This record gives sequence, C-alpha cells and structure tokens, in this order.
Amino acid sequence: MFDSAQRNIHYLRLSVTDLCNLRCRYCMPDGVEKLEREAVLTYEEFLRLAALFARCGIDTVRVTGGEPLVRKGVDQLVAGLKAIPGIRKVTMTTNGILLAQQLPALLAAGLDSVNISLDTLRPEVFQSITARDEFGHVMEGIHAALDSGIPVKLNCVPQVGVNEGELEDLAALAESRPLQVRFIEMMPIGYGAAMPCISGPELRERFARRWPEFSPLPAAQSAGFGDGPAVYYTVPGWKGDVGFIAAVHGKFCASCNRVRLTSQGFLRPCLASETGCDLRTLLRGGAADEELLQAIRETIWSKPREHHFGDNSIPATRGMYRIGG
Ligand code: GTP
Ligand code: 5AD
Ligand code: SF4
Repeated sequence: MFDSAQRNIHYLRLSVTDLCNLRCRYCMPDGVEKLEREAVLTYEEFLRLAALFARCGIDTVRVTGGEPLVRKGVDQLVAGLKAIPGIRKVTMTTNGILLAQQLPALLAAGLDSVNISLDTLRPEVFQSITARDEFGHVMEGIHAALDSGIPVKLNCVPQVGVNEGELEDLAALAESRPLQVRFIEMMPIGYGAAMPCISGPELRERFARRWPEFSPLPAAQSAGFGDGPAVYYTVPGWKGDVGFIAAVHGKFCASCNRVRLTSQGFLRPCLASETGCDLRTLLRGGAADEELLQAIRETIWSKPREHHFGDNSIPATRGMYRIGG
C-alpha cells in the first residue's frame, strides 16, 4: 500500500529476537538488558501478522534480529512466510556465525538471499569489535553461502580507528567473487551514536582514487540486488559490486519502501522514529483480523516522511538489536 507521502510500502523487516551471539560495541555491548521470553512474539504470532501485512501489499520480508539464527527453528518461520500468498521474497540479515550449520535447512525452506555482517578481515579486529572470537565461523558461513549459489551481500560499518585501514581490502572481495560488499554509514542509533565513522561520499572518493574506473552501476542492474537503499558501484571486470548505504550523508527517505516489526510486536514505520503501534497488545487481547489490519494500515499511512538524524539520536535502550537494522 501507499503511505501518505506516496511511497509504495512493500517491504517488512521482522526482528525475530533481540538476542545475539556477538556483542558489537556499536550495537549490543556486554551488559545490555534482554527481553523477557514472553515479551517476544511466537512464530505463530509472527505468521498471523505477516499474512495480514501481505494483505496490505507487503511482498518482501527480511528476517533480522538481534541475530535471527540464534532463535531455534527459524527455518520453519522462513518456510511459513514463504507459504503466505502474496509474499514473493524472504531474505535474512545475519552475522553469519551459525550460517554454515543452518544453511541447508534455510535453503530447503526457500530463503531467497542472505546479507552477512563483516566489518573486518582480521580476527583480532573482529574480536575487538564484537567481544567474541568467532571470525572463523563467520568466514565459513560466507563461504558456505557463496558455494550454495544463494545471492550474498556483505555489510560493513566503516569506523574511524577500527577498520579504516582495511576498507579497500573489504571492497576488493567483490573483485573475484559474485557478491556485493556494502558500506553502511553509522547511524546515531544506540551506542553507535557516539562512534566516529567514515561517510559514504568520503569512502567513494577513496575507492575512486584506488580504482580510477570505479563507477556507478546502471539502476536497472542494481535493482537485481535487493530492495534496499544501497547505491551500487563497480570496476569493469569485477565479478561483484560495492554498495553504499549512506543514511546520514545520502538521505534516502523519499524512496523508502519499508516498515519494521520488532520482536515484541511493535510496528515501527521508521527506523529513526519512536512512533508506531503495539500490535502485540492487540493480538494478545483477542483482536480480530479486521482490527489488526486497520491498525497496520493506519501505521503505514502515517509513516514519518524522513529522519532527523542531525537533530537527535535514538537511545541505546532501543539500539539496532531491538529494531532489527
Ligand atoms: P536489500 O538491499 O534488499 O538486501 O536490503 P537492505 O540493504 O535494506 O538489508 P540489510 O538488512 O542488509 O540492511 C543493511 C543496513 O542498512 C541496515 O542494518 C540499516 O542499518 C540500513 N538500512 C536498511 N534499511 C534502512 C532504512 O530504511 N533506513 C535507514 N536509515 N537505514 C536502513
Ligand atoms: N548504524 C549503522 N549500522 C548499524 N548496524 C548496527 N548498528 C548500526 C548503526 N548504529 C549494522 C550492523 C549490521 C547491520 C544489520 O546493521 O553492522 O551489519
Ligand atoms: Fe525510511 Fe525512516 Fe530509514 Fe528514512 S530513516 S529511509 S523513512 S526507515
């Protein structure tokens, strides 16, 4: 359906858990409070809501977290989502640790593509960002995904003094592999708000200096990579591409196509706004489909037009691990 700013909202991000097996310093450092188990929607509840979202025009669902693969049986949720009439595509954003292990079940369930976070190629830097020694498992997950033929994108948040010396090496993964390496500007959400990052435009200039033929891909070609806000570049002869998600320096709200459902069943029409609708209370209070549909439609209709990252930031208690990225 269209929102009041005439944007076609057809993409739902489902955060299936707030839990994660990493402790990234900009997202969910050690010591953050976890939700009560009953606070989180069951798969049955997610599937009931997803079917209603499909009736409102949602055709693409991205399963996120926290880390979605730490929740047991997430492949069954993927299969359930794929079976909903109108849902065309089901994708996942993961940190990759459990991916090699769970990929066969996810592929059997019909998962269409996977985005994997990778901020560094150095095990010791990985440990310093995530507080966990899991680099090897993440690389195994990436290789398993590439070997299986499922479309793969990598997500990297460039951080001053952390991984800034290896951003060209990360981008160059796209030289010999058919994947998209994306660089995400740190958004002032949660703990990331206090951390200096490198902007999309700055990075683009750096890459153009390193590879003089670094140039934008035609929109028609990039359209095949997904439904997100990334802008893609490549170098002639490369197998893959480099993407930029520049939410701060390249605001893309005017073409936003998505809403988010948190693991607690709160429908959040904009990543950057606290507004939304508590679907869990309606659902558990015995609301009929029509009542839920009306709440969903009203929330989508009143989706904020844009973020105001320059003026405010989102508190750490509602960091990315609670919103789903
Ligand atoms: P595809 O391009 O379809 O693969 O989806 P995507 O890039 O949206 O998915 P992914 O989960 O990999 O998103 C990567 C990151 O981009 C998210 O974690 C967010 O940080 C950022 N992002 C995605 N969508 C939005 C959005 O609508 N607004 C803002 N501000 N940031 C977004
Ligand atoms: N700004 C931008 N990206 C973030 N992520 C987590 N927190 C932030 C933030 N404040 C990224 C993770 C992951 C993706 C899902 O979201 O690094 O790659
Ligand atoms: Fe969409 Fe809000 Fe992100 Fe802007 S900040 S692109 S409106 S989710």
